[in-house]
Amino acid sequence: MDKKLKVLFVSAECAPFIKVGGLGDVAGELPLKLKELGADIRVVIPGNRDMDFPTEYKGDFPVNMGWRKETCIVREIVNAPVTTFIIDNYHYFDRQGVYGHKDDSERFALFCSAVYEMILRFDFMPDIVHLNDWHTAPIAMLLRENEREHSELSEISVVYTIHNLEYQGISDRSVFNLFGVKDVVFMVDKVEYYGCFNPMKAGINYADIINAVSKTSAKEMLTPKFGFGLEGVLKNRETSIRGVLNGINQNNWDPRTDKNIYFNYNKDDVDDKRKNKKELQKELGLNKSDAPLFSVISRLVPNKGLELMEPAFEYILKNNNQLVLLGSGERYYEKMFAELTEKYPGLVSINLEFNEEKARKIYAGSDIFLMPSRYEPCGLSQLIAMRYGTVPVVHKTGGLADTVIDEIANKGSGTGFTFSTYSKDSFIRAIKKAINHYNSRELWSQLVKRAMIKEYSWESSALEYFSIYREAKSLNYKRKKERRT
Ligand code: GLC
Repeated sequence: MDKKLKVLFVSAECAPFIKVGGLGDVAGELPLKLKELGADIRVVIPGNRDMDFPTEYKGDFPVNMGWRKETCIVREIVNAPVTTFIIDNYHYFDRQGVYGHKDDSERFALFCSAVYEMILRFDFMPDIVHLNDWHTAPIAMLLRENEREHSELSEISVVYTIHNLEYQGISDRSVFNLFGVKDVVFMVDKVEYYGCFNPMKAGINYADIINAVSKTSAKEMLTPKFGFGLEGVLKNRETSIRGVLNGINQNNWDPRTDKNIYFNYNKDDVDDKRKNKKELQKELGLNKSDAPLFSVISRLVPNKGLELMEPAFEYILKNNNQLVLLGSGERYYEKMFAELTEKYPGLVSINLEFNEEKARKIYAGSDIFLMPSRYEPCGLSQLIAMRYGTVPVVHKTGGLADTVIDEIANKGSGTGFTFSTYSKDSFIRAIKKAINHYNSRELWSQLVKRAMIKEYSWESSALEYFSIYREAKSLNYKRKKERRT
């Protein structure tokens, strides 16, 4: 094992300190596993007003932002499980919310330049800089474009993980100018995109290895349907693209020990799962019923397949099944889903919030988990659902395709139900199949058991990352050699 591999893991968010979505979970869990497996790893994230943890001052320095300078302060979170640095700046980072500010592209440009400065100034020269999503991608450009001036940078290999290709951080050329790299970099083969600056392109074009969060997503990214305009750019780097599935923290998500659920249970005692269902029905004000209880736990944003949910919910409820939804997001959908409560009292519970305790009770107490995402690079909830024996019905895309085995196509060895065509009819057909299976007690408890046994741990993902890091190092070595000759 690479005992002393030095890794700097750069992310916009990191649980438990600050988290918006799956990226935060990955940044909180993968580095920890890599550390346990022997890496010398540090994490760096931007500051945020929502973070309230004791920190220790580590240093400050001026960071170039075009013609002006901003002072950045580096602090280290005290007693973090993995050494975690925060880059602070009063103007850009002392705010609430990780994303959604109108100067986000400028904010993350400052973050990238500050991380770059930190690498030059601190006594931790990483072997690998692991970047994540568009917010951190320009660091790849800064490292490579400045290595003539700072030859030590050429030793660093860059791995770039794409969690979500749809968000690319496209901005005005003026944002590119903040980085102070030479003008010729603003070209179509590097970071220029229809006259704009595209940070995602910087990650794709400058990294040694580009990594998607599932094997299927790595392939889908190369197609117009899932490439979000960058399929051509990715195609040029096809040989350097890999795919590593995320894992879940098996100790944190465990129905045998979860303190938030009504009754703990294991794969051999699925009856105790039913007791959870009864309690959940009571708590949510649902009728006592043996009909399948469907669940959705999701941010209510379009790529989660909201337009398919509306007709599917009608189908489920019209047929006297039950449904619980937990999540918040776009107003339009919040309102639409809330109206269902009036129409189907006792059958549906709409919870427009995010509440982890409730989420756990729903994972434990419901029967069938719905996740019809239009696209889903990896997805986390389907993994948790399976671990809690809640059988997923998912669109066969990205990480959903790689983790849920369709019971219809693989009779007796499936872990859920999948549908290939993204349409309401296919989704409803898959739901019908799930209901049919549910009605046969024996088949159902076997299916639940199989879903619960399937392991998606961080251990195996982290081992794959080690091999990607090794590969990145050898590719970087080759690149340097070629440059010299
Ligand atoms: C993004 C993707 C999701 C993935 C997560 C972590 O949120 O949409 O599919 O699980 O990143 O990689």
